[in-house]
Amino acid sequence: MDLFLDRSQRRTIGVQLYGQLREAIERGRLLPGDRLPPSRQLADELGIARHTVTTVYGRLAAEGFIDGHAGAGSVVTTTVTADHTLDGASDLTSDGAASMSATTTAATAPTAAPKMRRASVDPPVRFDLRVGAPDPELFPLVDWRRAVTWSLQRPPSMPPDPEGDIDLRRSITRWIGRSRSVVAGVDQLHLTAGAQQAFDLVARALLRSGDVVAVEDPGYHLARRCFEVAGARIVGIPVDDHGLVVDAIPSDARLVYTTPSHQMPLGVTMSMPRRVELLALGRRSDLVIVEDDYDSEFRHVDRPLEPLHRLDRGERVVYVGSFSKTLGPALRLGFAVVPRALVDPLRELRAAVGWQPPATDQSALHRLITDGSFDRHLRRTRRVYAERHRELRAQLAAHPDSFTGIPTNAGLHITAWLPHGCDEAAAVAAARDRGVAVECLGAYRIAPGARGALAIGFGTIASNAIADAISTLADAVGAAR
Ligand SMILES: Cc1ncc(COP(=O)(O)O)c(C=O)c1O
Repeated sequence: MDLFLDRSQRRTIGVQLYGQLREAIERGRLLPGDRLPPSRQLADELGIARHTVTTVYGRLAAEGFIDGHAGAGSVVTTTVTADHTLDGASDLTSDGAASMSATTTAATAPTAAPKMRRASVDPPVRFDLRVGAPDPELFPLVDWRRAVTWSLQRPPSMPPDPEGDIDLRRSITRWIGRSRSVVAGVDQLHLTAGAQQAFDLVARALLRSGDVVAVEDPGYHLARRCFEVAGARIVGIPVDDHGLVVDAIPSDARLVYTTPSHQMPLGVTMSMPRRVELLALGRRSDLVIVEDDYDSEFRHVDRPLEPLHRLDRGERVVYVGSFSKTLGPALRLGFAVVPRALVDPLRELRAAVGWQPPATDQSALHRLITDGSFDRHLRRTRRVYAERHRELRAQLAAHPDSFTGIPTNAGLHITAWLPHGCDEAAAVAAARDRGVAVECLGAYRIAPGARGALAIGFGTIASNAIADAISTLADAVGAAR
């Protein structure tokens, strides 16, 4: 960090140094955990006496800004309220200031201790039941490292392909053909930065401002937001035990977004009659259907139903997949299989608006799929998540006064209804007070729900912690009623 000391100023060098370090902490340029340079090194760099630096560090430590241990250096410990004034910078005690530097200045009065605020006021999370990420402990680190090393040994393809690395597109095309019976040509498969970029590309390619997009309600809010940002008029369609209520889709809809394998967030599977009905509507009304198959790799009970894409032979269904659940959302790896009619427009669009995740990651993923490590990883993680799914279902059933779990066969979360009249946001807040991080359906809803519910993730919690987590959560629900 650059420090600017001005010997021509009236304020002593020590006062200036103190003021600049404190300001850097208060403004967040130095964050909790950041290490300050050793006093001798800083003194040498600034051309000032070491004693000046140690005195300033001593003052910052006494005020709780930094923590200093002999030999380990000084570490920033805290953030401070943003509105806190910096007047203290001129308040270095006359004793301290006078002995810090040969430069003299007017002595000032001692300061009051600054108002400090820890970065977070929430109690620590004991049980993380948030929906979303898979377990980082299960990430296939050794295989991934090997795949990245392999990838680094080959030059990236030149020029790059707007749709993504051709080898990876081939291996994903084969993999989804094998695992999900999604049959497509390699030219139809676009590699994307997660499912989110696939939604964005589809929206840019197909939607005009004001077009009607039908989405599930409750439904995946980030997909909805993406269509909203593209200027679409969003219409929420209810979801029942059979999935999206196709009858409720307005006749002027241009696009339907749905999660048929595992509805997000309710978890139901779209029944076969509904699938057939939706595809028939698509043909009649010239609708494009975006099928988000984001977590069907984790099917814990019974066989999956055929994807819409297979039933439709890929004519009007855009099939979207993601590696966010199988590997991790930070990699930003996903794909879209688009109808033939969209291949050329999308390729042109892609060249204009953006490319894909880093070449190294793409070819590493290709390696992971083709050398068998990805299938091995899936077999291993399926076993772990199936066990957590079983345990979570059992624990929700053990607290019938607090939860009515919605039957679900797949994925990394289960949604549970709360008792009638229980406010879901109050339940989330009561859970947070007890160290349980969990989400309610609020963000997923368009129309207000008649009954509160919690979406309970089991991606990152160990099986043997689920009983404790759910009984703590039941206690929170009791308090919120
Ligand atoms: C419904 C749904 N679709 C897709 C995704 C994956 O999104 P992305 O690939 O952009 O990380 C998620 C992740 O949580 C999801 O819940």
